[in-house]
Amino acid sequence: MGDALSASVLGRSERTRVEYGNGIIGRLGEFATGLGAKHALVVTDPGIVAVGHVDRAEASLRAAGLDVSRFADVHENPSESDVSACRAAAADLDIDVLIGLGGGSSIDVAKGCAFLRAGGGRMADYRGHGLAKGELLPLIAVPTTAGTGSEMQSYALITHDETHEKLACGDPQAAARIAVLDPELTLTQPRRITAVTGLDTLAHAVESAVTKKRNATSDACADEAFELVAANFPHVLEAPNDLEARGAMLRASACAGLAIEHSMLGAAHSMANPLTAHFDVTHGCAVGCALPTVVRYNAERGEVATRYVALRPIDELVTVLRHCVRAAGVASELGHVDRAAIPTLAREAAEQWTAQFNPRQVGPDDFASLYGAMLDECEELAS
Ligand SMILES: [Fe+2]
Repeated sequence: MGDALSASVLGRSERTRVEYGNGIIGRLGEFATGLGAKHALVVTDPGIVAVGHVDRAEASLRAAGLDVSRFADVHENPSESDVSACRAAAADLDIDVLIGLGGGSSIDVAKGCAFLRAGGGRMADYRGHGLAKGELLPLIAVPTTAGTGSEMQSYALITHDETHEKLACGDPQAAARIAVLDPELTLTQPRRITAVTGLDTLAHAVESAVTKKRNATSDACADEAFELVAANFPHVLEAPNDLEARGAMLRASACAGLAIEHSMLGAAHSMANPLTAHFDVTHGCAVGCALPTVVRYNAERGEVATRYVALRPIDELVTVLRHCVRAAGVASELGHVDRAAIPTLAREAAEQWTAQFNPRQVGPDDFASLYGAMLDECEELAS
């Protein structure tokens, strides 16, 4: 399985070492002791406990001689309170490594715990980049979805307790030392999770490919992520037990996470946050459904079109994106979005952090048109 990494951008990742293979969770203890650790805190959620992944992880840690503690109360879209609860649970423990085991939420809470343990305060104090105080505990990230790509990023996305804004809190030290990618762990995802997390990965690949900040490194990561998703996403939805395809999606997610780290995101992500805030649309569903519309809009700029063409000719690219949205079967979830809210959504989208990185200027009026076109397209793709 290591061969899958030799030709991949993941094989060259230095800050976060990638360990990949079926059943590699069994080597978690070896990886932790390799960092000099003696006492691990496993940060996870009840669903991951229920499917047995936490037992497997902890058995490996104990077999390698580590003491093991567990925080299993992570919620989806974690808030500052989630991180504070994790920090409080670990307060009296002499832990020396954090294991983020689960979706992006668990990995992000583990990162957040490292910030608070070293520097105190609340997550809002660490909004931005490079604000960690002192030395952060090392993190091993073990994703069970493919996914957010958080395992390859130095940012934790945490929701502000009062304003419900997404706080992006990053520091080079917060990035995982090791990402353990075990395709077997992704077999237990419900179909809908495979669908929405896969669309998120697709959006990460396509948006990071063209941002204003992109560079040669992000281009290589985005290209690899896109090819893996295009070849495997519709298939993995039809054949969820195909381990090879699951592995490809897990690598795609990590590649796309690495691409974002160098390149940021664009207008589809700007459009998603207001849809989530006002209409509770799942993030992956929102970004995936926005993607064909955003690509058509951006491709009207020649230099952006040229970059898209490196992925696929524009018409073909849009066809691939629409095929993925249709295969995911989630376009109907936009059906309850009230078009009367478009001016509000558009105004808020223009204020999102990600909008500034979109390769074509995009203001409130543009976003209003994009939302209209997106909703039209969703009606078509849902039928
Ligand atoms: Fe995303």
